[in-house]
Amino acid sequence: MTIDISAKVGTVELKSPVIAASGVWPYSEEFWSGEKLEGIGAVCTKAISLAPRRGNRGIRLWETAAGVLNSIGLQNIGVKKFIENYSKLVKNCPVPVIANVVMEAAADTQETLRILKDADGIAAAELNISCPNADGDGMAWGMSCISAAEATAAARKVWNRPLWVKMTPQTADPAAVARAVEAEGADALVCSNTWLGMAIDMASGKPVFDRVVAGLSGPAVFPLALRVVWQAAAAVKIPVVGCGGVRTASDCAGMMLAGASAVEAGSAFFADVNAGKTICDGLPPLIASYGKNRLSDIIGLAAK
Ligand SMILES: Cc1cc2nc3c(=O)[nH]c(=O)nc-3n(C[C@H](O)[C@H](O)[C@H](O)COP(=O)(O)O)c2cc1C
Repeated sequence: MTIDISAKVGTVELKSPVIAASGVWPYSEEFWSGEKLEGIGAVCTKAISLAPRRGNRGIRLWETAAGVLNSIGLQNIGVKKFIENYSKLVKNCPVPVIANVVMEAAADTQETLRILKDADGIAAAELNISCPNADGDGMAWGMSCISAAEATAAARKVWNRPLWVKMTPQTADPAAVARAVEAEGADALVCSNTWLGMAIDMASGKPVFDRVVAGLSGPAVFPLALRVVWQAAAAVKIPVVGCGGVRTASDCAGMMLAGASAVEAGSAFFADVNAGKTICDGLPPLIASYGKNRLSDIIGLAAK
């Protein structure tokens, strides 16, 4: 039996359900064409903001027992340089490219999106509402329904291509935030970004990171992210993309059984640069074990 592992997030069609999550896919010819893309359905860019950002000082990555803490701090060269330096990579990329856009002050993010409109080959914008609202209370935009809705509405006003909104898992009520984002016209939800954690350096007895807290990703967060996918998928009609700790075919299928239409994998690539292929190779027997011959047929099966 031939098993179809293609996926679809709204109108964005993917030959595999595995999307390289934002922040882990290097901007180099080697990664944006050819073999490295085997098993990869789409690539998310690193964060893009209006002005360049230097990122955080001090240690930026710290391995933990079951994942990694990062404090990169949205370092990027700004949208204009992004277009100058990478538009050829984006245009020639054989899989859809998703532009990960930092939610800043509304006018700044709108300007970023306006500039990105001129870039050929961007299949969707992924609005990162997990960063602090500098004009508001400093909490991440995605923490409350009101600010998440405000962010989505601001982006929707200027971006007429597919708009994915990347949620923070830290909110107390992901279902309510998911509904608020859907109501403002998002085309898909990505559930979710990293979880706040910290580490102590036992040699110095001090926090590892200059900012003390950092974002936890990797296998440790998989059950947490799965729960957010389950809650969001039950709350909205738009597609949900599962993200957090996905590294095996079972993780991918689990996310899809819980209601995801595709998955993003990030930290998995640190351990296995071919994680996309590894996941795809393991999917057909799993799909067949549910008596199905298409990956899309298992979406939400756990809730039925
Ligand atoms: C080094 C690193 C950099 C990241 N940079 C971004 C970023 O720029 N924008 C964003 O939305 N998420 C960023 N993330 C979060 C990932 O895209 C993903 O949501 C998170 O790591 C959870 O998935 P994982 O457990 O598969 O890694 C970053 C993660 C890591 C580890």
